[in-house]
Amino acid sequence: MSTIIDGKALAAKMRAEIKTRVAAFQAERGKEIGLAVVLVGEDSASQVYVRNKIKACEEVGVKSFSYHLPADATQQQVCGLVDELAAADNVHGILVQLPLPKHIDERAVLRRIPPKKDVDGFCAENVGNLAMNRETIVACTPFGVMKMLEEYGINPKGKNAVMLGRSNIVGKPMAMLLLNADATVTVCHSKTENLKEVCAGADILVVAIGRAKFVTADMVKEGAVVIDVGMDRDENGKLCGDVDFEGVKDKASYITPVPGGVGPMTITMLLYNTVLTASRS
Ligand code: GUN
Repeated sequence: MSTIIDGKALAAKMRAEIKTRVAAFQAERGKEIGLAVVLVGEDSASQVYVRNKIKACEEVGVKSFSYHLPADATQQQVCGLVDELAAADNVHGILVQLPLPKHIDERAVLRRIPPKKDVDGFCAENVGNLAMNRETIVACTPFGVMKMLEEYGINPKGKNAVMLGRSNIVGKPMAMLLLNADATVTVCHSKTENLKEVCAGADILVVAIGRAKFVTADMVKEGAVVIDVGMDRDENGKLCGDVDFEGVKDKASYITPVPGGVGPMTITMLLYNTVLTASRS
C-alpha cells in the first residue's frame, strides 16, 4: 500500500502560516506586502494560472497588482512596465507569467526583474545561487516538491533521484535541489536512451515532461517515491498527470495525485517567496 501525498492539505497548512506572517509584516512595517503579476497576451492556460495566483494573494492578505498587456504589446512596453515595478517601493515581488508571446525576448524581460524581487526564482543570479547551494529564491514548483518530501519525512540523502524533464522552470532547479540535498541525481529527457531502465533505478522519481500518463508501472521501482508534476488531459479530457496513477500507485511507497498533489504547492510557494522578498526588503 502506498501513501498518497496530500498536496492540498500541506498547501492549506502552509497558507495559514503564511497568512499569519503577512499580518505580522503589516503590523510591524505599517504597509502591505505587494506582488505584481504581469500577463501578456491571451493564452488561456496562463489566464487561469494568473487568476489563481491573484486569488491566492487575496486569501493570505498579500496585495496583488495585476497587469494584462495585449498580445501585440511591444518589447519596449513590457520592459517599461517591469522597470516601473522594479522601482516601486510597494511592490515586493514581480511575476511575469510565461510563456510570453513569440515576438518578445523572454530573457531580456526577465533580466529586468531585480533578483531581490524575483519571486519565481527564474533570473540568472538566483539560478546561479541555487547551483552553488547558496541562499537564493527557489523556483516555486520544485521548491514545493521539496516541502512535500520534507513533510512526509522523505530524505533524499544518498538516494538515487531521477528527474524526468529538463525545463528551466522545473527539471533543472529540481535536479539542483535534490543534489543540494545529497541525492545522486540523474536528469533524463525525451532523447535519453534506455529511459525505462533509468527511471526504474530511481528511489525518488520526479516527472515533468508534459505527456499524459507517460510513466507506467514497468518504469517504476518497487517502493519508489513518485512525484508527478504533470498537468495533462487524458483521452476523455479528464485532468491527469504524467504518471499512470492507477497503474503505479500500488508499486510506489509514496505518490502524488493529479489534481491535489504538486499543483496546490506551486502557488503556495509563490506566496512563501513573496513574503520572503518582502521580509528581506
Ligand atoms: N508558466 C508556467 N509556470 C510558471 C511559473 O511558475 N511562473 C511563471 N512566471 N510562469 C509560468
